Amino acid sequence: MARLHRAGLRAPARRLIRISDLNSRISNHTTDDGEAFVRLRGVTYAPPGVAAPIIDALDLEVRRGETLVLLGESGCGKTTTLRLVNRLLEPTAGEVLVEGRDTREWDAIELRRRTGYVIQDAGLFPHFTVERNVGLVPALEGWDEARVRERVFELLRLVGLDPERFAARFPSELSGGQRQRVGVARALAADPPLLLMDEPFGALDPLTRAALQREFAELQRRLAKTVVFVTHDVREALMLGTRVALMSAGRVLVLDTPEGFLRSEDSYARAYRETIQ
Ligand SMILES: Nc1ncnc2c1ncn2[C@@H]1O[C@H](COP(=O)(O)OP(=O)(O)O)[C@@H](O)[C@H]1O
Ligand SMILES: [Mg+2]
Repeated sequence: MARLHRAGLRAPARRLIRISDLNSRISNHTTDDGEAFVRLRGVTYAPPGVAAPIIDALDLEVRRGETLVLLGESGCGKTTTLRLVNRLLEPTAGEVLVEGRDTREWDAIELRRRTGYVIQDAGLFPHFTVERNVGLVPALEGWDEARVRERVFELLRLVGLDPERFAARFPSELSGGQRQRVGVARALAADPPLLLMDEPFGALDPLTRAALQREFAELQRRLAKTVVFVTHDVREALMLGTRVALMSAGRVLVLDTPEGFLRSEDSYARAYRETIQ
């Protein structure tokens, strides 16, 4: 554990108590709307024909600038939660607010452009070069060619890929780790304030995975995006999360800082903890 602390948990400066935190402690309420970048209020997702709701009266808020990790076993509803945030799905009951606005009131395209989405296999277009994959959204937004290229090169450098070597390659000419880097670059291309990351490093070998986790933590310190990060890996959750939401059967059982999670008395949290001790 000591190693995990040194390697991953944030420096104390990241843990400064904010006025809003104090207020919420005093009033014993969650922070107000001004602080929440994303808020799920009583969200249920129960498509017809499914016995139990996939998401079950979920209340959750993601604060501006934090990395909220959704941790839980396969099938507990993590991906569904992300898809409710960028309105690939709409709730059956309750509401999802992004920047204070119901996702159903957002223009879906605009919402997705303000939301970078990174998935496990990077989801790159195989017949597009790296440059075209990363520059896709800026090009759609009508940036001129020179500006798109400049942005693509900047982003590739940001994620540790030399543009001279990689811009012209196709996804099949990259390693898994390099593909994920391109996926992250693409998600950041239009500088969206919100990033949704669905097990982005899940398919990588352990060393590549550890390298990308470290780089992502560093990147996040510099960019301070609001991030919802999905994983079933408790080490990854503790390393990258500002807070960790432990999910089971469409609900959040524990929502706490990594330190709080490590002290939690919740039996499910303890079971997770034991897997890394
Ligand atoms: N459109 C759907 N219709 C019916 N069941 C679904 C649908 N989407 C997901 N599920 C089911 O909902 C549960 C949660 O899925 P998901 O959010 O993908 O879980 P996770 O990402 O945590 O592994 C799973 O049991 C899955 O099979
Ligand atoms: Mg999933």
